[in-house]
Amino acid sequence: MTEDVRVGVFVCDCGSNIAGVVNVPEVVEYSRGLKNVVFADEGKWSCSVDALSAMQESIKEHEINRVVIASCTPRTHEPLFKATVKGAGLNPYLLEFVSIREQVSWVHMNEPEVATEKAKDLVKMGVAKAILLEEGEEIRLPVGRECMIIGGGMAGMNAALNIADQGFNAIIVEKEPVLGGLLNRISTISHDREQIPASEIVKKRVELVEAHPNIKVYTGAEIESVKGYIGNYRVALKGNGNGSGPAFEVSTVIVATGMKEMEPAGQFEYGKDPRVITQLQLEDKLKNNDLGGIKNVVVINCVNSKNETRGCCSIGCPVSVKNALAIKEINSDINVHILYRDLSMIRQEGEALEKAKAAGIRFVRFPDDRYPDVMSDNGELGVRVYDVLIGRDFTMPSDLVVLTTGFMGDDTVDQIKGHLKVSSNADGFFQERHVKLGPLDFPADGISLCGCAKSPKTFKESCEEGIGAAMRVSIPMNKGFIEAEGIVADINLADCNACGLCYKRCPYNAIELDADKNPRVIKALCKGCGLCAADCPKECITIVHYSDEQILAQVEAALEENPAKKIIAFVCHWCALGGVDMAGVSRLQYPANARLIRVMCSARVSIRMVEHAFKLGAAGVLVAGCEFPTCHYITGNYAAETRLKRAKKKLARDGYDPEKLWNVWCSAADGPKFAKTMRDMVKALELE
Ligand code: FES
Repeated sequence: MTEDVRVGVFVCDCGSNIAGVVNVPEVVEYSRGLKNVVFADEGKWSCSVDALSAMQESIKEHEINRVVIASCTPRTHEPLFKATVKGAGLNPYLLEFVSIREQVSWVHMNEPEVATEKAKDLVKMGVAKAILLEEGEEIRLPVGRECMIIGGGMAGMNAALNIADQGFNAIIVEKEPVLGGLLNRISTISHDREQIPASEIVKKRVELVEAHPNIKVYTGAEIESVKGYIGNYRVALKGNGNGSGPAFEVSTVIVATGMKEMEPAGQFEYGKDPRVITQLQLEDKLKNNDLGGIKNVVVINCVNSKNETRGCCSIGCPVSVKNALAIKEINSDINVHILYRDLSMIRQEGEALEKAKAAGIRFVRFPDDRYPDVMSDNGELGVRVYDVLIGRDFTMPSDLVVLTTGFMGDDTVDQIKGHLKVSSNADGFFQERHVKLGPLDFPADGISLCGCAKSPKTFKESCEEGIGAAMRVSIPMNKGFIEAEGIVADINLADCNACGLCYKRCPYNAIELDADKNPRVIKALCKGCGLCAADCPKECITIVHYSDEQILAQVEAALEENPAKKIIAFVCHWCALGGVDMAGVSRLQYPANARLIRVMCSARVSIRMVEHAFKLGAAGVLVAGCEFPTCHYITGNYAAETRLKRAKKKLARDGYDPEKLWNVWCSAADGPKFAKTMRDMVKALELE
């Protein structure tokens, strides 16, 4: 195959950014001597309009069919050069990007000769990979116009209305006999400084949902099974005893299953004395005006939350103040004490606090490590609390003790997790794809989550998230398809022993098994992280644009000369390369020993790749990925970390020094961390 390969190398001066340090003409001349290179040229500003059209002309004129661009960083400029290559009639996957600004000229400013040698190496590695590049293609999967919403509370109903108003079809599946969710148990909602009966809000929203021609509602319904993926979900509901239940197909799914109060069983006399209740039980009393005979109410906040195992429940403080005010509104003579650790109130809630103080509600702060005692003796109920401000214990009589408890995910979470193959966190709530980059998404395309299915939310937040989730799933429904990048896994079944590891490990459920347990990649769902390929015991999975052969060719090119002085650094495209780029932008100077090999995720780095580098005499190997827990492929960095431990053992068994294998997990802003790792590694490996 290689005799037909014609590589063109384009080296950018980036004004003086690169050319001020690196001897670019020397790099260009060196490139001309590399295998399969038929053309090499220097560009003043390679990303300028003129340079890009000149590049297209050169590609055509010299019949170039692989392109290496040596310039800034692929994180900003790869799409531009891909489009340029495509404009010249080449498949954009036949481009390899080499970073000689962020990785060379900006970080080795005082060593022009060393920098020039490193730039040559990086170009050589780029050419070695480019020779092996194959065409790739974006993959499309059709997406229809139906969305299933699991849960008919406020978030779910809002999501359904939003979807239906856009002209799509929404199907709500609610396990309770009526819509409304948790709001059905709430007395009032604070809105615009007013208290509105929750039942009014629910009634209006349910009327809208039930009248909407694009919404179908199943109440008292549970999911039997969900099969398929975006564009192609087949859902069956449980039957009611007379055979199977309804079945339908949808393209997208929204999870809005809500939450439930944690029962404070065995704590604060709850369950033993009926006068000790939770906030939700208080809501019932408020709805029914059921406070007769009560003179003293004590509210205890932060029960089962904000402790060593769970964070702040987010809504307990405003709820305790809202309900205390509601008690006062029913009977202003009732004494109300709120015992708290910290009061987390924002904006309008702050006004409610002032209102509460004005209404005579008393606030007592207790220490983090000294919760109040509830005492139930001979029919007397009392609470003893240590007041932080006054510095002593008080005992207050009470007719009603209200516990503001934490929340956890709904009972159906485990079941739905299994159906949709998504995960939940330690608090029993569903886990979003990424706290910042995908707060309303699950890892798999086409499934969103919202409201209290994710964490405790206020009414307003639940409504907003319902709309947010609806917008997320509307994007592919509106386009009518999803498109995946061509960097995907490909399985060679001839070598596969159907062990099922790839199916189990894929973070995106992008691998399915046929009746004979043979794996098949659903290409539109595959994100190309490479975790499956690196773990495959038969090495029969390849990743387009990041195949074993291509990566090993880069390793070999890098170590052709002076391997004992070089470090092979596998760097994930996202945070780790971001850190590398940040070191460059910040002009942090570090030793020039490392030759960086970009992979999409640290999970792509196999033990074979690491060992190959040592076999060729590398002084050290570094694997750099995103800091925990923010891998862009969900769990890729965890998989990489586990594999690196295995790699160290294998290296030791095979006679290599495992201490020469390093790793660093950094954020995209961690330039100093990356630079320091380089300095530390060079020192520890005695390469100075
Ligand atoms: Fe950076 Fe996975 S994307 S480690």
